[in-house]
Amino acid sequence: MEVGFLGLGIMGKAMAANLLRHGFRVTVWNRTLSKCDELVAMGAAVGDTPASVVAKCKYTIAMLSDPSAALSVVFDKDGVLEQIGEGKGYVDMSTVDAATSCKISEAVKQKGGAFVEAPVSGSKKPAEDGQLVILAAGDKALYDDMVPAFDVLGKKSFFLGEMGNGAKMKLVVNMIMGSMMNAFSEGLCLADKSGLSPQTLLDVLVPCLVMQHPCCYLLYFTTKSNNHGYVLTCRISVQSQIRCSR
Ligand SMILES: NC(=O)c1ccc[n+]([C@@H]2O[C@H](COP(=O)([O-])OP(=O)(O)OC[C@H]3O[C@@H](n4cnc5c(N)ncnc54)[C@H](OP(=O)(O)O)[C@@H]3O)[C@@H](O)[C@H]2O)c1
Repeated sequence: MEVGFLGLGIMGKAMAANLLRHGFRVTVWNRTLSKCDELVAMGAAVGDTPASVVAKCKYTIAMLSDPSAALSVVFDKDGVLEQIGEGKGYVDMSTVDAATSCKISEAVKQKGGAFVEAPVSGSKKPAEDGQLVILAAGDKALYDDMVPAFDVLGKKSFFLGEMGNGAKMKLVVNMIMGSMMNAFSEGLCLADKSGLSPQTLLDVLVPCLVMQHPCCYLLYFTTKSNNHGYVLTCRISVQSQIRCSR
């Protein structure tokens, strides 16, 4: 299967590399062209513009930073819209709001193409390991066509129905994860201020259900291997909350 891939940041690079490792033919494009080099060394081809990637590939995936990047890559000069059309599919896996997904979907459909939004739950390591959770919605036929790629990129993919549901689900999941990290950080502070050892709290939490959350395990093991673990844990918690809100 041949796919285009737009956006080789933390997530996109790992995802495109996974596709290459699993035998997909991948044509990449990134705004900062030098970031394509590593993928080229793995066998990827490079497109000059998003439009040229879409012209070459039946299916194109995007993984961009935010709504303004997602819109720019579609609507600007040399963008996706210039070459999308009948028989071509565009899949945006960036985290954006539902209105942005709907705007892209309408424009792609008007040109005769198919569109799926497919934001992911997970981070760099799950992206590297093909363990993302994919929250897709939109054109069901395109989703079905993309299942072989989604199977490589993720451990589970959901088709959530009408356009916008993927974006909404992703934001709800982020809200829940952010709240969990907040409660976790509050618990560490409360333990500390109550004269309890935050390290002991971590040890107590491990056998509890709440610590079976991957974020919490990450925090636990990071803390265990660091002398300044508690401070580090709080810092990571705050960073995670910021990341979760992206
Ligand atoms: N990182 C995570 O743990 C994580 C987890 C789940 C979901 N996500 C979501 O996945 C998406 C990608 O995240 P990331 O961590 O890979 O981000 P990142 O490392 O910051 O990469 C962002 C990518 O977007 C490109 N970009 C930004 N503005 C652009 C523009 N105006 N035109 C064209 N390209 C543009 C960047 O190109 P340049 O290289 O030229 O800057 C880069 O390829 C985001 O929506 C994020 O919320 C991230």
